[in-house]
Amino acid sequence: MQREIVKPIFFLIFIICVSLLSACEKNPVQKTIPATTPSDEDVHQDVDEIKVGFLMDTLEEERWLKDKKMFKEAVEEIGAKVEIMEANGDEVLQITQAESLIKQGVDILVMVPYNAEAAGAIVQKAHLAGIKVISYDRLVKNAEIDLYISFDNEKVGELQAKVITELAPVGKYVYIGGADTDYNAHLLKRGVFRVLKPYIDKGDIKVVYDQWTENWIPVNAYKNMEAALKANHYDIDAVFAGNDATAEEAIKVLSQFGLAGKVPVAGQDAELAAIRRIVEGTQTMTVYKPIRALATAAAEVAVRLANGESIETDSKINNGKIEVPSILLPPIPVDKLNIDETVIADGFHTKEEVYTD
Ligand code: BGC
Repeated sequence: MQREIVKPIFFLIFIICVSLLSACEKNPVQKTIPATTPSDEDVHQDVDEIKVGFLMDTLEEERWLKDKKMFKEAVEEIGAKVEIMEANGDEVLQITQAESLIKQGVDILVMVPYNAEAAGAIVQKAHLAGIKVISYDRLVKNAEIDLYISFDNEKVGELQAKVITELAPVGKYVYIGGADTDYNAHLLKRGVFRVLKPYIDKGDIKVVYDQWTENWIPVNAYKNMEAALKANHYDIDAVFAGNDATAEEAIKVLSQFGLAGKVPVAGQDAELAAIRRIVEGTQTMTVYKPIRALATAAAEVAVRLANGESIETDSKINNGKIEVPSILLPPIPVDKLNIDETVIADGFHTKEEVYTD
């Protein structure tokens, strides 16, 4: 486990340096970004004239507040301007907000889609207005999105499953996924089931409950967990949750039946409450996604794309329509043993927040 964790941290630093700093070396982000080619000259402008539109889905989970704050800081640090809107889980509102940002004349749109499919309409509208679109954290499906920047979401699922299968290599598993409308939830599930497959094939692990959590709403996860327990006569061996907010609900239900701390539970996001549950012993693990790295890298590529530069990426992800150039940052598993050297060392949470009642 220790080596598993140290490696991703170095890998993260490496990825960010290679993907971004190499580009910066050639053409550092400065007050005025020089033109890459003479024909692009009219596209290039002073950085302080660039306006980035950031369309967010929700601020419900703790992480999105960090994304909002850190993205704004990162864009402003470069010297550009940013306008942020949140759609509160409403796909029609998100389209209206996109239209408003396009009308305002933003130079680039960065978007966390609420609905992976419906958000394709935003990409089309932006492109008609000559504005590029970056998928932030969540992939827009079936659209000609210009760039995708996120964490490796399949890896998140694999990390969850590695920890849980070590603790419960045999037994009845409950899978409470994220929102069906969020492609991240699908990628995470793919990662989990890739690890589970050999156990399932051998007959050691049986997935006895498998449901999405509609709209990521925690109360839906609560209902799922209740249903899963009831259907299995309160006899289950492990729980996968789509994120820490859904894990929290699952654990609430488990605790009503004296099962919290006895049944391993995995989440993701490294929310403070989840880290505290890990310390307390009711949640087994979470997956830490360093938001500062994502927000900083996204701000950097947004300004560069807005300025007419092209971004080289190592990976591509098929979104149903095109191979989307993608920057995928490595997620980091967190359990009781490495809280201090991951989320606390990074300043994601303080020692006092984690360990003080
Ligand atoms: C993100 C998670 C988040 C969830 C709910 C997913 O797309 O990757 O970090 O918890 O959305 O907002």
